[in-house]
Amino acid sequence: GRVAVIYGGLSAERSVSLKSGAEVLKGLRVAGVDAFGIDLGVDGQDPLAQLMAADFDRAFLILHGRGGEDGTIQGVLEMMGKPYTGSGVAASAVGMDKLRTKQLWSGGGLSTPAFAVIGMESDLNTVAATLGFPIMIKPIHEGSSIGMAKVRDQAQLEAAVDEARKFDSVVLAERWISGPEYTVGVLDGKALPIIRLETPHDFYDFNAKYEANDTRYLFDTQLSSEEEVELKVLVEEAFAMVGCRGWGRIDVMLDEQGQFQLLEVNTAPGMTDHSLVPMAAREAGIAFEQLVVEILRTATL
Ligand code: DAL
Ligand code: MG
Repeated sequence: GRVAVIYGGLSAERSVSLKSGAEVLKGLRVAGVDAFGIDLGVDGQDPLAQLMAADFDRAFLILHGRGGEDGTIQGVLEMMGKPYTGSGVAASAVGMDKLRTKQLWSGGGLSTPAFAVIGMESDLNTVAATLGFPIMIKPIHEGSSIGMAKVRDQAQLEAAVDEARKFDSVVLAERWISGPEYTVGVLDGKALPIIRLETPHDFYDFNAKYEANDTRYLFDTQLSSEEEVELKVLVEEAFAMVGCRGWGRIDVMLDEQGQFQLLEVNTAPGMTDHSLVPMAAREAGIAFEQLVVEILRTATL
């Protein structure tokens, strides 16, 4: 049947999704799949009306961020009875929420960096005293490092919290871990080859992700084979614990004590030409066209 590649959307990651969507659509067509694209919310269109008007049997969801990666579209597709790729409603909603994801992992005994929640009434001095500088400030519901900052002192903390509040009323403060940072794609519940990220910037921010060409993506993980197995098992467990399905990507830091610390799960990770899941798949001998077909195969209700 016909496959709708659903991309675009109205989140702050729209520009990333436009690129991901174009690549996925091209890949599916090269693989001979009868696919067409729906740019959700383009030109002020009503996303719900767009979905209802389209003629398709399955959906390949490649919306990033709120209103697409967060369970809302998944719920609509459930009601329409159309199978879709990736996580279901609940796991998508949790995965889009960095705070709930961390609470869930730590409740399940998996390590995630120490954190504090900054609400409107929170005392920033207490947060700083609890975590110690530097601190990572993150809006809870954004992707692609949007609204994130590394802060080194009290003055920077206030500015960073104000900036993050442009995206979310509740902000997450996380203990800084210098890394190295790893990212692990998951395909059908199984970890893909580990990628180690090296950026000359403070952290792997939006610019490093999509614009700069100075980030290094390394399959030379500098981990022992035991540590690699440990990381892959951890990622598969973390993915399952959130209830994720099909595919995704988990970002992890290695801390100063040699402990892996889970940062977040992306339930519809980037598929642009700079993106990590396609890179990891290629390393595993899975070409892009094959990857999108594999992901499509996991589409379910
Ligand atoms: N949120 C971006 C798209 C990613 O995780 O790749
Ligand atoms: Mg993310």
